[in-house]
Amino acid sequence: MHPQRRLYDRKMKSTATFILAGGRSSRMGTDKAFLELGGKPLIASAVELARKVAAEVKIVGDPEKFRAFGPVVKDVYRDCGPLGGIHAALKNTDAEVNLMLAVDLPFLTAPFLDYLLKRAQSAETMVTVPSTGGYFQPLCAVYHKQFADVAERALAKGRNKIDQLFRDVSVDVISEDEMVANGFTVSIFRNLNTPEEWQEARGEFVSRSAYMMGTTRMQEETAYSSPEIAQSIPEPGSEQVERTEEQGPYIQFRDVSKAFGEKHVLTDVGFEVNTGETVCILGRSGVGKSVALQHILGFLRPDSGRVIVAYEDITDYSEKEMERIRKKVTMVFQNGALFDSLTVGENVAFPLRERGDLSEDQILQIVSGLLDMVGVKEMADQLPAELSTGMKRSVAIARALASQPECVLYDEPTTMVDPLMGQLLGDLMKRLKFQLHLTSVVVTHDMRLAKKLADKVVFLHESKVIFYGTYADMEKSDEPIVQEFLELDRLDLGA
Ligand SMILES: Nc1ncnc2c1ncn2[C@@H]1O[C@H](COP(=O)(O)OP(=O)(O)O)[C@@H](O)[C@H]1O
Ligand SMILES: [Mg+2]
Repeated sequence: MHPQRRLYDRKMKSTATFILAGGRSSRMGTDKAFLELGGKPLIASAVELARKVAAEVKIVGDPEKFRAFGPVVKDVYRDCGPLGGIHAALKNTDAEVNLMLAVDLPFLTAPFLDYLLKRAQSAETMVTVPSTGGYFQPLCAVYHKQFADVAERALAKGRNKIDQLFRDVSVDVISEDEMVANGFTVSIFRNLNTPEEWQEARGEFVSRSAYMMGTTRMQEETAYSSPEIAQSIPEPGSEQVERTEEQGPYIQFRDVSKAFGEKHVLTDVGFEVNTGETVCILGRSGVGKSVALQHILGFLRPDSGRVIVAYEDITDYSEKEMERIRKKVTMVFQNGALFDSLTVGENVAFPLRERGDLSEDQILQIVSGLLDMVGVKEMADQLPAELSTGMKRSVAIARALASQPECVLYDEPTTMVDPLMGQLLGDLMKRLKFQLHLTSVVVTHDMRLAKKLADKVVFLHESKVIFYGTYADMEKSDEPIVQEFLELDRLDLGA
C-alpha cells in the first residue's frame, strides 16, 4: 500500500487487544467502566466483545478495580488521558498489532473490529485508524508496539493529544466511505459522555430487550419461514411478477460511458433489468463487467449517461441516499468477504443483528432457514476456513439474503469452483430467484450459468454492448466474439 513506509515483512503479525478502562468521569460522577448498559457494566461488555476477535485481551487501568474482569496493565502516566493508557499498553506488549479500545464505545461490533485488525495486518503502518465526520477515532484503532516510543516522547513533553502524533508517523486511515462500502455504519463510534446521552442509550437498549421478550414481526419472517426447497423449478420467464409496469425497469443503464484516464471501459452502454428478472453480463475478462456492477451500487459514477436502480435515478445521488439504495440491492462478493473469526451462523446473523430490531430467537430461526435454503445447514458452527470455496460462496449468498434485499448482484459466482459445485450454485441462484422474487444481475463468463439463469444477456465487447437479448437469440447472433464464447463452451462440454 505504501511501499516507502514498509516497516516489516509480510507475515501474520502477533495481535493483542487492550481495553482502556479510563478513570473517573467528572461529567458522569463515576467510573464510566462501571456504568451499566443492557444489564452489564461497560467493562464487561467491552472485554466480551474484544474476546470475540482476539485471543489475548487485557485491561488498562487500576488493577484494584478491574481485576475481576481480566488481566490488568497498570497505567504508568496516570492523569494523561488515553495516550497514557496507550503508552502503558504498548510498553507491556510483545505483539506487533495492538488494538486499543475505549471502554465507552458500546455500539462497536465484532465484525468491524475483525475488519480493522485485518486492515492493520496488511497496512504496514505504525497506526491504522478509522476517521469519521472529519475526526480520527484513536480509541478504536490499531498501534504498532513501536508507537510506545512516540507516545513516551510526547507525554514527557506534556503533549497528550493523540491525533497530533498521527502527523509524525505512518498512518493508514479507514475512511467513512470505505466503512460504508464494507457494510458498516459510522454510528458504531457513538460514545456516551453526558447523563442525557446515557439515558437515551439505555432507552434504546431497553426497547430492544422488550422486543426480545415476545413481540414478533411475522411478515419479516415469512420469506424465510418455509425453508423447504422448491420442488419444481420453473423455466425463466414462466413466473409472472406483479407491480412495475408503470414504474419501469428495476435497473436501467441509459447510454452509460465511463473512462479511466485514456481507457474507455464503458461506451454508451444501455440495458435494463425488469423486476424479478435475471440479467447476465457476459464478456472477456477486463471488459468492464465489474465496473458496471460498481455503477449499480454507486461506488463508481458514469462520465455521461444515467443509471436507474430500484426505479430511482441514482446518477447524482449522495452517499447518504446511496445507503438507502444499498439496503435494497446487495452484492455477493466473489471471495465471499466472510468474517474469518465468526462462525458460518454468526456471519449470516451479522446483517440481522445490525438491524437491532430482531430478538435472538428470531435471528437464530432466520439464520437456520437461510443456511438450509442454501444447503449448508450442518456448517452453522464451523469457521469459514473450514469450508470449500463453493460452500463459502453459498454462505455469502445466505448472508446477502439475510438483509432481505430486492435485488442481488453476483460477481463471477462460479469462478474457481469445480463444475459440480458451479452447477449447484447455479441451481441455488435460480431457486432463490423464484422463491424470493429476487431481481438479479450476474456477472459471469460461464455460459452454462448464463443459459440456466438469464432472462436476458448483455454481451460486452470493446467497451460496447454488442448483444442484448435472450440467450436463445444470442445463440443466433453472428457476432464473431459471441460465437467464439459459445464455441469454447461447446468444446469445454465435450472435454
Ligand atoms: N477504479 C478503477 N480505476 C482505474 N481503472 C479501473 C478501475 N476499475 C476497473 N478499472 C479498469 O477497467 C477495466 C475493466 O475492469 P473490470 O470491470 O474489473 O473487468 P471485468 O470485466 O473483468 O470485471 C480494466 O481495464 C480495469 O483495469
Ligand atoms: Mg470482474
